[in-house]
Amino acid sequence: MMKAAFGNRFHFGVAISAAQNEGAILDDGRSASIWDNFVRRGGVIRKGGKTSPACDFYHRYKDDLLLVKALGFNSFRFSISWSRLLPDGTGKPNPAGLQFYNDLIDECLQLGITPFVTLYHWDLPANLQREGGWESPLINRWFRHFTKICARAFGDRVKHWIVLNEPAGFTSLGYMLGKHAPGKRSLEGFLKAVHHAAIAQGDGGRTLRQHVDKAVIGTTFSCSEIRPHTDKTEDIAAAARIDLFMNRLFIEPLLGKGFPEDDRGLVQKLNKQNLSWKYTDRMQFDMDFIGLQNYFPLTVKHNAFIPLINASEVKPAARKVPQTAMGWEINPSAFHRIIKRFWKYGGIKEIMITENGACFKDQLSQGRIADNERIRYFEDHLQEVLKLKKEGVRISGYFAWTLTDNFEWAEGYEARFGIVHVDFKTQLRTVKDSGYWWRDLLAG
Ligand code: NOJ
Repeated sequence: MMKAAFGNRFHFGVAISAAQNEGAILDDGRSASIWDNFVRRGGVIRKGGKTSPACDFYHRYKDDLLLVKALGFNSFRFSISWSRLLPDGTGKPNPAGLQFYNDLIDECLQLGITPFVTLYHWDLPANLQREGGWESPLINRWFRHFTKICARAFGDRVKHWIVLNEPAGFTSLGYMLGKHAPGKRSLEGFLKAVHHAAIAQGDGGRTLRQHVDKAVIGTTFSCSEIRPHTDKTEDIAAAARIDLFMNRLFIEPLLGKGFPEDDRGLVQKLNKQNLSWKYTDRMQFDMDFIGLQNYFPLTVKHNAFIPLINASEVKPAARKVPQTAMGWEINPSAFHRIIKRFWKYGGIKEIMITENGACFKDQLSQGRIADNERIRYFEDHLQEVLKLKKEGVRISGYFAWTLTDNFEWAEGYEARFGIVHVDFKTQLRTVKDSGYWWRDLLAG
């Protein structure tokens, strides 16, 4: 594979997030995020992993950026910790928080790396959660304020912005399934969170447009091809319901299409139960790019024991197909199809793959990690990006997830996605073979 085939304006990036990398949760006036609190509950994170020290990126960002540079990436995606920048959640910024992100941005620019800033990557300030978090209509005011502060502070140098990271993820895992912070399990709360997050997408876009000259604005969605296990009608209907929640829920209001409907009236039924979930024009915004993040496709079947959605996954192991250490199916052509399907909505100016990558059981042996499966994963998915480009899909970037092994949410430190290995006791970084593979590719 040749780098040149992607075109010389292509963003080859690597992505991280504040809660997963920064650590330093008590430093310099930062307040607690919902994740700092959630991890203290027993039994919610594998092996009791905490949000600090993570990769100690707060203190080691210069070294990590040197790695980004040495491996040849031209773009770097990171997120702003809301509670570091605005410890009260609202009000005035914390000077140390401003300083940190200013330094980080300046360092990127000095190295010739384009910064991509994600406003919200799942770490709400805990004091805003106390007032209802994403379930409260106030979140939209809080989020506009936070966005405005970021835009004004960093917009002179940061042109590439991402409003939300995977809203379907944080609303369902955090507010309905209780697996992520803030650990709630309520259908009603989930519906409210969806409503407010859909508004935040539009509000975020408008606020950035207003305050940042020449901004390139996007937001990200997780996406997965959903296949019925058999061609029985009930499996097909189950797949359609999962598809609605996992793929359609947030892009359709953003594109001005309203909330998705399905022929079984599932969404209508939900709407009747909770009047707060209704499409409003504020959810629509004309993004400059759509960030798509794909890791796996899903095969699903009808399952009457699962409330509401009446569907469950048929795992890759049961189907004897290749999988990662997360139990996620590896299937590059399914990646191709789901990206194509989003493109076919129309009205999308550009797509960037803002995350793609894989977790494997890495073995560190004599200072080396021969992660051939991860190399294969990147290579095969990049091939599909090239095919999509040839077919006329405008894809202008690809970000590997992720730079260093980091705090993988409920999986704690047990799931490693990095192209650079981290020893969490010493913070020693070791470039994996996949990191060297990227270096060789990007050296052209
Ligand atoms: C998507 C999320 O944005 C990121 O935070 C997470 O680590 C990866 N998926 C892998 O699960």
